[in-house]
Amino acid sequence: MEMKLKNILGRLLSIALLSALLPLSAQAQMGKGMKMPFGDKASVSYSQKLWSALADAHMVGPNAIMSKPYKGQHPHGAVLDTIEGPVTVGGHSGIAIVKRNYGGPDVSIANVANNPAKYLKAVTVMYEREDGYDADNKNWYWAKYKANGGLHKNPKGMSLAGRVAKGMPKGCIACHTAAPGGDMVFNNDRYAH
Ligand code: HEC
Repeated sequence: MEMKLKNILGRLLSIALLSALLPLSAQAQMGKGMKMPFGDKASVSYSQKLWSALADAHMVGPNAIMSKPYKGQHPHGAVLDTIEGPVTVGGHSGIAIVKRNYGGPDVSIANVANNPAKYLKAVTVMYEREDGYDADNKNWYWAKYKANGGLHKNPKGMSLAGRVAKGMPKGCIACHTAAPGGDMVFNNDRYAH
């Protein structure tokens, strides 16, 4: 009986320690005094506003406009479709690039074309925010949504929304920096101004 109690207490303590330490280590990586570049309250609540604006524009959700699916590459899905256009969030208008990432055991271009909802795993979005949001990275706001508008998280439990993952060797920003044209967009150079 006493051993059991000790075990439970020990476990609770390590959970408490872990949750206290994780955000600290994330902050340490970014340097003292800097704001969390992503996964913070403001970035997460912005993701909800952006999602409703995208839904109103028929770019996500059950009434979303569909384009022809194409074969994707890692880390995006095995099959993808991408649409883009201007969207207004809280009085600011910017370009939203919405990429739907499809996967699953029998995923194929034909199966996705016929039943996109069945294969939709993630909706990855780049949204052109106001000047000064992230001048180092063309002011892009990044988010990885689930099909229902909730957010995917990284292995540390941080929600993937905001400047993901600024200053870190992996993630949206690190990889998209290599996109041609200097606009962080792979598929075209229209935003390279
Ligand atoms: C390891 C590299 C890599 C990472 C990490 C990555 N991407 Fe991409 N992404 C690509 C490549 C390559 C393309 C272009 C090919 C394609 O359509 O998949 C792309 C395309 C896109 C596009 C369409 C616009 C464009 O650039 O052509 C969006 C939107 C996008 N990614 C969002 C994200 C978001 C959001 C994240 C982080 C949650 C992310 N990406 C992480 C490599 C990456």
